[in-house]
Amino acid sequence: MNHLSNQLADKTAIVTGGARGLGAAFAHHIVDRGGSVVIADVLDDEGERTAAALGEHARYVHLDVTDPAHWTAAVKYTIAEFGALTGLVNNAGIATGQFTEHEPLEHFRAVLDVNLVGVFNGIQSVIGPMRAAGGGSIVNISSAAGMLGLALTAGYGASKWGVRGLSKIVAVELGPDRIRVNSVHPGMTYTPMTAQVGIHVGEGNCPNTPMGRVGVPEEIAGAVGYLLSDDATYVTGAEIAVDGGWTAGPTLKYVMGQ
Ligand SMILES: NC(=O)c1ccc[n+]([C@@H]2O[C@H](COP(=O)([O-])OP(=O)(O)OC[C@H]3O[C@@H](n4cnc5c(N)ncnc54)[C@H](O)[C@@H]3O)[C@@H](O)[C@H]2O)c1
Repeated sequence: MNHLSNQLADKTAIVTGGARGLGAAFAHHIVDRGGSVVIADVLDDEGERTAAALGEHARYVHLDVTDPAHWTAAVKYTIAEFGALTGLVNNAGIATGQFTEHEPLEHFRAVLDVNLVGVFNGIQSVIGPMRAAGGGSIVNISSAAGMLGLALTAGYGASKWGVRGLSKIVAVELGPDRIRVNSVHPGMTYTPMTAQVGIHVGEGNCPNTPMGRVGVPEEIAGAVGYLLSDDATYVTGAEIAVDGGWTAGPTLKYVMGQ
């Protein structure tokens, strides 16, 4: 592997939902910068393929983030394979969307279970090993939908607001242990999740966003890599929007009525 830099040379991270989409881009970013990664997902074939393409510094493990027993096994596996666990990227997520009035309770619960309870499970499972190692970095993937009221996302948006708040709570609790906890808030990004709802890359495809376009996963990965690295040793409890300006405010087109 031809390393772009050694920013993550001594780091080992679990990336949930790393089989495809944003998680796969995070896994690539970590290995490209000299780190090691354990991709944890429920899509076993895709996860195995993504890890194999990354070479000796990547592994795949089956993990349903809603199951605490899977977490115990994944953390144990990571330490057995790479000797330590310094990072966790809680990225796995699912989305449903319709008017709140019509959102079935089971959909609402299912989204919270993966997107919020899954993050809680991950945090709980890594605290002991990270504390024992003298510190670590937890990066929780929230969303722009966790910073504003995005219609048709009752369960999804609530889960992402929850992840944003949980990140700050745990950052405060774990500061003394040198375990940093931050949230990253992607805007509309082209992945299998958004392709399913007809979102595509290209200028003008995101008119509600100042930059006027959908992002690609590689554009989100830099923020995650930074937070995992020793460049961010004083950064905890922070939220980083990587969203083309979506949450900064209404577009000029809206303000000027054009
Ligand atoms: N794509 C976007 O525009 C966007 C914007 C903001 C936030 N996000 C967030 O980024 C994260 C990744 O999204 P994506 O767009 O890459 O989606 P994706 O659907 O392409 O990938 C999500 C991954 O999570 C995995 N996953 C789902 N449920 C799981 C479970 N119970 N246990 C383990 N893995 C599970 C899936 O198998 C898949 O590999 C999600 O949390 C999503 O909410 C995405």
